[in-house]
Amino acid sequence: MLGMTKESGSASDEELGFEPGSVRHVAIIMDGNGRWARARGLPRNEGHRNGVRNVQEIVKAARQADLRHLTLFAFSVENWHRPKAEVSALMHLLDSYLTAQADELKRQEIRLRVIGRLEELPRRVSRRIQRLMEETAHFDRWNLNLALNYGSRTEVVDAMRAYAQAVQAGLEDPEALDWATAVRFLYTRDLPDPDLIIRTSGEHRVSNFLLLQGAYAEYHFTDKFWPEFEPADFFAALAEFARRERRFGQTSEQLKSPRSPSSLRA
Ligand code: IPE
Ligand code: IPE
Ligand code: MG
Repeated sequence: MLGMTKESGSASDEELGFEPGSVRHVAIIMDGNGRWARARGLPRNEGHRNGVRNVQEIVKAARQADLRHLTLFAFSVENWHRPKAEVSALMHLLDSYLTAQADELKRQEIRLRVIGRLEELPRRVSRRIQRLMEETAHFDRWNLNLALNYGSRTEVVDAMRAYAQAVQAGLEDPEALDWATAVRFLYTRDLPDPDLIIRTSGEHRVSNFLLLQGAYAEYHFTDKFWPEFEPADFFAALAEFARRERRFGQTSEQLKSPRSPSSLRA
């Protein structure tokens, strides 16, 4: 069991293998629920149920690691094409997760955000999320971001539409468009870029997830299916990330000099 320090509820670096608070944003593509269930002779929905149970464990672990942002890919725009019964079971699970975890998120002082087209989710779900986002909006240290009805290409389309409307309204000047302006139109406008993106289940692809925000992210792929991806696996991924050298287009020597790397511009 991980011990907790009195002050923040975080675990110590010896226990974790990295310094708590040293990683800002981890995003996870939670894949493999169906195969986890199949390997046990269970229906796919049982895999999703165990996947949701694991979300609670990893959210707790992220807080122990003093991770500021945890973003979980829970439902993609492409996932609507799954059988109707599976989509409806997923929506039901999402609804009961939010109901069951509402108090816990508040107790743990975690702010909830959603990236994706929230308005296209069933009304009961989107209203519950809206309420929970408002009720947790004053927490500023730990953030849980759920990617729901999310796809990077949809995000770009929504951003382009919003930008075009802002130009038409005279609020934006296309001549002055730069990356700093563009990011203000993405769903992730309030979030730092992910430092590390983890994908479970042995698939080595990004499936339309944070394509722009992950431009300089480190990736970690594991064969474990999402329901069996434990806090220990999560901490091991963070410890491995801590040993990597990120160069942002510069040389190792430049990075060793006291001047910090220049920001990524376009
Ligand atoms: C991830 O598990 C959950 C969602 C995409 C909603 P999958 O349901 O994709 O499980 P596999 O990949 O079929 O095993
Ligand atoms: C990505 O997993 C989406 C989520 C984890 C929510 P998928 O299972 O939908 O991705 P593909 O189909 O394997 O690319
Ligand atoms: Mg999958």
